[in-house]
Amino acid sequence: MKKTICVLLALVMMVSLGAVAFADNEVDAIKKAGVLTVALSPDFSPMEFVDSTKEGQDAYVGFDVTLAKNIAAYLGVDLEIQAMSFDACQTAVAMDAVDMSISGYSWTEARAENFELSDYYYAGENETEQVLLVRAADAEKYTKAEDFNGVTVGAQNASLQQMFVETQLPDAKLQVIGEIGVGVMELQSGNIEAMAVAIGNGKQIIANNPDLVICDWQFEVDEAYEANVIMMHKGDTALLEVVNAALAEFYESGVYGEWYQEALDIAASEGAIEVSVEDAA
Ligand code: ARG
Repeated sequence: MKKTICVLLALVMMVSLGAVAFADNEVDAIKKAGVLTVALSPDFSPMEFVDSTKEGQDAYVGFDVTLAKNIAAYLGVDLEIQAMSFDACQTAVAMDAVDMSISGYSWTEARAENFELSDYYYAGENETEQVLLVRAADAEKYTKAEDFNGVTVGAQNASLQQMFVETQLPDAKLQVIGEIGVGVMELQSGNIEAMAVAIGNGKQIIANNPDLVICDWQFEVDEAYEANVIMMHKGDTALLEVVNAALAEFYESGVYGEWYQEALDIAASEGAIEVSVEDAA
């Protein structure tokens, strides 16, 4: 009898200690709330963009949206997408205003220092090459890096592409752009001479804007930048672990190729806005 009480007491202590140790970590908080909040900037087809034939949350489509849905399902909660500009997404994670951001992030040294970054996930060829869009009429003007000396080159604020312009075209005049769609319009209207984009995104843009082409000269890309990562608040290691476990499962089940093709199909459809200006607001 005494022994039973001792065992029971020990059990009670273990359970309560466990409760203290695991209370309120970010994964529990998400499960308790029943919602996973994910920030993204839907101006980056085929990763995240807007289907104008749909409304509300359903309007957000693309590879990362599928990924976000599957992570929410893995956690057993609903998904709430919060659309905002690309730099705002990163601020939102830093301020812990959202659970995570899934927005086509490349791994970078600076991000690894300031955030928890997931293991890689693989979205087709979207970022295997980093290129410059120029007006078709100017295509022959730009064949080597020096041709951009003194030339205004746009890149999205707080992006890998901005870093590439700064480091690989140091003599160009960088124009920081909030939204990729705005950059495309600036390029078309002659306010900037080139716009740095990921190859997959660039292909989507030229498909819808025949006055633009992909420049022959392109950035040098280290392997570390070719796949994507999910961005979480620094210190959210419990969430990081769950996210990595989910990514490992998706990778093993071989679904990434399918998700990417699906995103391309939606991008080619009538209502797709590959670079949303109005809708991201
Ligand atoms: N991969 C690039 C980066 O990490 C570009 C991502 C842009 N994403 C977006 N949703 N606009 O900076």
